[in-house]
Amino acid sequence: MSTNLGAGRPPRRIIVGVGAGIAVYKVPAVVRHFVKAGDSVRVMPTEASLNFVGKATWQALSGAPAHTGVFDEEAGVDHVEAARGADLIVIAPATADLIARIHAGLAGDLLTTTVLASTAPVLLVPAMHTAMWNNPATKHNVEQLRARGIHILEPVSGDLSSGDKGAGRMPEPEAIWQRAEEILAAGQNGPVRDLEGVKAFVTAGGTREPIDPVRFVGNHSSGRQGAAIAQALVERGAEVTLFSANVDDRLIPAGVRVVETPSALQMHQAVLEAAPEHDMGFFVAAVADFRPAKTATKKVKKSAANEDGWSLEMVRNPDILAETAKAFPGLLCVGFAAETGSDEEILEFGRAKARSKGAKYIAINRVGGGLGFGTLDNQVVVVDGEGNEVLSTSGSKLEVARAIVALASGHSETQNR
Ligand code: PMT
Repeated sequence: MSTNLGAGRPPRRIIVGVGAGIAVYKVPAVVRHFVKAGDSVRVMPTEASLNFVGKATWQALSGAPAHTGVFDEEAGVDHVEAARGADLIVIAPATADLIARIHAGLAGDLLTTTVLASTAPVLLVPAMHTAMWNNPATKHNVEQLRARGIHILEPVSGDLSSGDKGAGRMPEPEAIWQRAEEILAAGQNGPVRDLEGVKAFVTAGGTREPIDPVRFVGNHSSGRQGAAIAQALVERGAEVTLFSANVDDRLIPAGVRVVETPSALQMHQAVLEAAPEHDMGFFVAAVADFRPAKTATKKVKKSAANEDGWSLEMVRNPDILAETAKAFPGLLCVGFAAETGSDEEILEFGRAKARSKGAKYIAINRVGGGLGFGTLDNQVVVVDGEGNEVLSTSGSKLEVARAIVALASGHSETQNR
């Protein structure tokens, strides 16, 4: 992806701010991404960050001086110049200290002065120990910065440099530049059209498993998250088919082909038939794992036989995602996992699904108690097929969808065909 982004457009001016954290080792790949894309990159490390990676590395990678202070010998007052001309400021890792200083509007070094003097969009990529990330002071600073319009790419959970496990790990370089590209595109020519010529399908909504002509076994999925994924795919230029399980037409974005698949068996058949024609599949539908063993052809009436109650025999439905991923290994599959329980349980259940279903990614979201189903917002942790966290994001369902599609599009072998 990084090699052909720059084709046919003037270089963008990117400032990469570097905080003092062990995650600094991931930042050279971000700098390289923009340099390869033909952009003009200025790295502004904090003084403390030079303990991890020195100026020589940043200068060699960016081809530009990497100053730390406003009064550095040749730097002069160029922070105003740099701030004024920037298209984007990416700060990674954004330490708790750096976040606090930016929040307070301090300007003690070149990076913070530049942020203060700039009107360019800012992307902060926090990385720190879980205890610091969860500290009310950091939470407050992050929320305030978000409210001021600063973009935050949230840390993911995993092994920390301290030996502990938890939230605080900086996302991988790909996730950082994908998000940066989204922000740049939104401010310039609209979304990145890197999925032109790519055929994608989305399953959305909740299946209804018929009991008789008037009753069904169903769930609370509205189809909003699936429709948002379809929209994010269309924005990037993909040709999209949506397998709709009872999704209100008004939610479905323009330009999407809709195939009605109200029950799990109908969706199963339609998806397996269509899969060979597609490059990517997003499995967002809440598919019933079980269906009534028999569907009555006439309405089941109250009678002496069911006076005291009525038992319904249920049989297993096929697992559409698992079967499709197995049958079509060339198809890039992204699944969702709807989970309930503690944070740890949710992650563990989601990771188990990631390992068993054969998808490239699984987006894990909490459902129930007013979350997930039918809501306007969502919060997901995305894991890869081995269960490693690669992205954590929250916001409107469309924002979440854009982040997931950006991640998946970075791995589409079919992109830019
Ligand atoms: O539609 P909304 O109201 O916007 O709500 C969104 C959502 C909560 C439904 C969505 O974000 C979500 O979590 N979708 C997945 C729901 C689900 O069925 O999760 P699951 O953990 O049971 O299944 C895991 C994955 O396997 C899913 O990708 C699912 O589509 C797929 N699956 C499950 C069962 C089955 N028989 N076939 C499948 O393909």
